[in-house]
Amino acid sequence: MENIYLPEQIKILDIKKLSENVKLFRLKKRMDFTPGQFVLAGVWGYGEAPFGPASSPYEKKHIDIVVRDTGGNVTSALHNLKIGDEITLRGPYGNGFPLDFFEGKDIVMATGGCGIPPIASLVKYIIKNRGKFSKVYLLYGARTPNDILMKDEIKDWEKQINIILTIDSPHPEWQGCVGFVTDLVKKIEIDPANAVATMCGPGPMMDALEKVLRPLGISDRRIFVSLERKMQCGVGRCQHCTIGDKYVCLNGPVFNYDEIDKSWD
Ligand SMILES: Cc1cc2nc3c(=O)[nH]c(=O)nc-3n(C[C@H](O)[C@H](O)[C@H](O)COP(=O)(O)OP(=O)(O)OC[C@H]3O[C@@H](n4cnc5c(N)ncnc54)[C@H](O)[C@@H]3O)c2cc1C
Ligand code: FES
Repeated sequence: MENIYLPEQIKILDIKKLSENVKLFRLKKRMDFTPGQFVLAGVWGYGEAPFGPASSPYEKKHIDIVVRDTGGNVTSALHNLKIGDEITLRGPYGNGFPLDFFEGKDIVMATGGCGIPPIASLVKYIIKNRGKFSKVYLLYGARTPNDILMKDEIKDWEKQINIILTIDSPHPEWQGCVGFVTDLVKKIEIDPANAVATMCGPGPMMDALEKVLRPLGISDRRIFVSLERKMQCGVGRCQHCTIGDKYVCLNGPVFNYDEIDKSWD
């Protein structure tokens, strides 16, 4: 009988340090996935954890995952690996963003800190299919300029979509917006009746992002939230990731804002 929990061993092609505690791992794996889905990646003996691929879904030679070292078992073990080492990988799992529904609409993507990986994949999809979408905004907040991830890619994306970056407080090396991501809403011009929004990040960040999107007048049904919960099996068997009567791994991680309990933990 097939063991659905048995991961593949995948070689690390490259590792890039994106900030003090965040690394990008380029993995030698061809994977078909939808932006917003997740993989379970790990190290033998240390366990596995969910990560949203950050690479383009059109990329056929590798996938990229971006890992913030939380000091926990899995992310610390991943950060200790070198190019050429192997990681464990299974997936993709979960639903991903409803890309067909997004077509023809204004899109606002709001994220902060290490919520950017699945959004990076979504941005790459949108840019590849730019003609199918109307106005596109990425709002991205970070603590300091050094905490803004994927800076080189962001410069490229700016040629195709509107990007508003902000940092939490003034910094000598920063000429851009200062203030929490919630302040960015004043800079957005969309048609709320024909717009969708995405929010991505851990619970407390969602409260903040809600304050960004709420004044835009986009209905809850058109706001798509990618939730983060602790996971084990990744396939709806262990109940570790439940939120109300839903499994984040199976029914999500992307939910309509009106179908979830908004009391974050
Ligand atoms: C669908 C999904 C996609 C994800 N995508 C990414 C991604 O692309 N990149 C990435 O770096 N992380 C991502 N995460 C979060 C990542 O899975 C966790 O950081 C990881 O599970 C931590 O594992 P650990 O064993 O190192 O730490 P643990 O031992 O599980 O936790 C160590 C410490 O970190 C805290 N912690 C755990 N998870 C989080 C979290 N999500 N946010 C803030 N603090 C946390 C714990 O409370 C604890 O204090 C995603 C999570 C989900 C559910
Ligand atoms: S992680 Fe096991 S049910 Fe979701």
